[in-house]
Amino acid sequence: MRDARPDDLFDLSGRIAVVTGGGRGIGRAISEALARYGATVVAAGRRPEPLAETVQAIEEAGGVAWSHPLDVTDEDSVQALRDAVLERHGRLDILVNNAGIDPHYAPLEKTSFAEWQRILDVNLSGVFRCCRHLGTAMLESGGGAIVNVSSIAGHVAFRRQVPYCASKGGVEMLTRALALDWADRGVRVNAVAYAFILTDLTRGITSHEHLSKRLLARTPMGRFGRVEETVGAVLFLVAEKASSYVTGTTVMVDGGWTAA
Ligand SMILES: NC(=O)c1ccc[n+]([C@@H]2O[C@H](COP(=O)([O-])OP(=O)(O)OC[C@H]3O[C@@H](n4cnc5c(N)ncnc54)[C@H](OP(=O)(O)O)[C@@H]3O)[C@@H](O)[C@H]2O)c1
Repeated sequence: MRDARPDDLFDLSGRIAVVTGGGRGIGRAISEALARYGATVVAAGRRPEPLAETVQAIEEAGGVAWSHPLDVTDEDSVQALRDAVLERHGRLDILVNNAGIDPHYAPLEKTSFAEWQRILDVNLSGVFRCCRHLGTAMLESGGGAIVNVSSIAGHVAFRRQVPYCASKGGVEMLTRALALDWADRGVRVNAVAYAFILTDLTRGITSHEHLSKRLLARTPMGRFGRVEETVGAVLFLVAEKASSYVTGTTVMVDGGWTAA
């Protein structure tokens, strides 16, 4: 475990953090990073096995973590997570709304309402539910930091991706609007927006010969992002000393995509 110094801008010692979708991909990398900087991490998601792997990895590195089941589409499940965290720790300081899906590539005329609704329910309403119940616990704890995981698809449009783009565009404005509501109540609300990062979610795209070539040609840095490159922006946004005057904004982690 890393030694924390009193002047360390990124020290999270003593903080309690919930990461949704903490079992895999970006969520796991974020969970491990928060624990490395001293937070107690609650990794939450639908499937127990990946969550257990995250907890094990954190514990093997000397950190503290536990897991809890969570389906962000189910209000009772979100409330149960909130109750479990408050029962164990009495408060919550950090919430990373990372859980998300992108299962559907089709033009609108081939997109059913059920498909639209499913994506919006996880990616946007899931963030609402977690902010509503876990964010409120942070208000009651005297403050904290929320980071919503967004995408370049919340800033620029992609063909055959209407529901996903709409969901991430919604996450962007939810972030800003909630930041205003809670700006004078001690809870900062920000987002990180990633371009194409190598995870399960993007495997179909990044391993597709022609599509991946096209995307890489469009990416100023000329490569896809690695999960370990997603965590620095989150650490900045949750670390009170580093970002105490930052709320309602999005940090782009996109290899230059939206600069072009
Ligand atoms: N990879 C990229 O290129 C990229 C780019 C921009 C933004 N993002 C965003 O980054 C986030 C993480 O993506 P990723 O690439 O790490 O994806 P991933 O590897 O597919 O992981 C998604 C995570 O979300 C969880 N999850 C899905 N539905 C859930 C639900 N209903 N309730 C609770 N947890 C749920 C999954 O856990 P279970 O299946 O066990 O529930 C899993 O841990 C997403 O919000 C995604 O939109 C990713």
